Amino acid sequence: MNFDVISLFPAMFSSPIGESILGKALERGLISFEAHNLRDWATGRHQVTDDAPYGGGNGMLLKPEPVFAAVEEIRSRRPASKVVMLTPQGKRFDQREASELASCDGLIFLCGRYEGFDERIRQNLVDLEYSIGDYVLTGGELGAMVMIDAVSRLLPGVLGGRDSACADSFSDGLLEHPHYTRPAEFRGMSVPEILLSGDHGRIARWRREQQLERTLARRPDLLDSAPLSDEDRRFLDGLKQSGGASRL
Ligand code: ADE
Repeated sequence: MNFDVISLFPAMFSSPIGESILGKALERGLISFEAHNLRDWATGRHQVTDDAPYGGGNGMLLKPEPVFAAVEEIRSRRPASKVVMLTPQGKRFDQREASELASCDGLIFLCGRYEGFDERIRQNLVDLEYSIGDYVLTGGELGAMVMIDAVSRLLPGVLGGRDSACADSFSDGLLEHPHYTRPAEFRGMSVPEILLSGDHGRIARWRREQQLERTLARRPDLLDSAPLSDEDRRFLDGLKQSGGASRL
């Protein structure tokens, strides 16, 4: 999958994309990544990329000419890529959106700065608009990094078998169950007995119940859309009656 970003601060991307799992995915050719400097498409002696809003008001806007030129040039090389705008007004990015984007050939991220973009960019150049949360960042770069990370780890081969994405929080609509590793006893804190029992059926059921209990305690909104069995529902009803999820 090809990731391109268009930004006034392309150097921001080198470490998050170059290290660890994404760095290995790049080395192995599972993803490609290029950070482009918007200023390279700005004309004139001062290569200006922003201007004041018509009608007055605070802040500066990214001008249409360099943004159109940048996207058109990159798209001519990658015609199948979708153009993604990062903006607090976009659709909220979540795990489901990450899975959908993971089936694209490529993504070209447009990272705004200042007050945002001239509206003609949004209307005529952009396929998808995303926000990474209900808060305002100083620019779209961190949002693009978050999205590239979340999408890349879903691509085949990027995570090794040991770190598979299948058991992630959200992948089955619920939060993940807790995990423990050695030692079985640490400063008087012990690993739940059942995990040492070797009974894989009971362990699977315990984990499912932990997921349900955690999700009820921390993100009850997720239970409205998570696929639940009759057994899951019975367990949740029992929990609600006893008020048992509140301690998690
Ligand atoms: N740019 C500024 N704030 C943002 C947000 N919350 N998500 C995506 N892009 C942004």
